[in-house]
Amino acid sequence: MKNAFLRWWGCGAFDVMLDDVNFAFDPYLFGQNLERIEPCYDYIFISHEHFDHCHPKTLQKLCRGERFKKLFVNPGCITPALPIDEKYGDAAFDRDLPITKHVAPEKVEVLYPKYLQDDGQWNRKFHGPFELDLGSLNVETIESGENQTPDLPTCGYLVTHKEKQISFLHIGDLHHPYPALRELRDKVDFFIHMKLGLTEWQGSNLTDRLVEIVELVRPKYFIPTHYRTDRIADPIPEGHWPPNVTDTCAFIESIREAIGEQTQVLPFTAGVEYELEMPDKKVIWKWNWQNSWSVPPWREG
Ligand SMILES: [Fe+2]
Repeated sequence: MKNAFLRWWGCGAFDVMLDDVNFAFDPYLFGQNLERIEPCYDYIFISHEHFDHCHPKTLQKLCRGERFKKLFVNPGCITPALPIDEKYGDAAFDRDLPITKHVAPEKVEVLYPKYLQDDGQWNRKFHGPFELDLGSLNVETIESGENQTPDLPTCGYLVTHKEKQISFLHIGDLHHPYPALRELRDKVDFFIHMKLGLTEWQGSNLTDRLVEIVELVRPKYFIPTHYRTDRIADPIPEGHWPPNVTDTCAFIESIREAIGEQTQVLPFTAGVEYELEMPDKKVIWKWNWQNSWSVPPWREG
């Protein structure tokens, strides 16, 4: 079986290359990355209509070519709350939505969440579709966070390659765990995490949310994303969302300590492609020393 390749592209953008089928979640590219990327995905999944998750400039480049088949979106990408600029503030813009202004409508399909974050007061019933059979892939949806209104739900995606027996859960900007996520227990290999349950130094303690979602889902691996660093190599340029984390090691370690040993944290660096040994699904860590000088500055004393 061929090895798999995973990459976090910055913000919530993550891609999975399985050779026979490739897919991306919330692609959001800039500069040279945006210029150089070729359409290489079969499917793209969008969690919600905010600019940093549903990004027209990136989607215009990716949603074309022979390989590309479908862009799956939550309902707000097609029927956003109106008027957009007023309702969403800086999170979504009239120029961007509906996304069918930028991607051919026949290439776009709306999905609704199968597992809902219902606390009983909304009494919502969506007609679906909630899941997909894409041949080699099976897709199920969960409700994510940051919806504009209860009837414009946002989506997380559980994508499973049936034959390779490997699965990825992208949770979108989910903030609260909820009981229905128990249905995903032991079905998730790679949990792509964003905002949920993070506690800043001296901020209000949200760790119980992080512990709760990991206990509900019990993924094998946990990949923190949706932050940026001040590294020159970070694919999201300075001045763009999301904000910098001041201490990446402390950030990762705080997550690792909170979620315990059952699930392994994978501290990916944005922009780096990681190879998975298949069928074991084990990351092959690669790194090098990298000098920032050619003549040692200490030679001169
Ligand atoms: Fe976001």
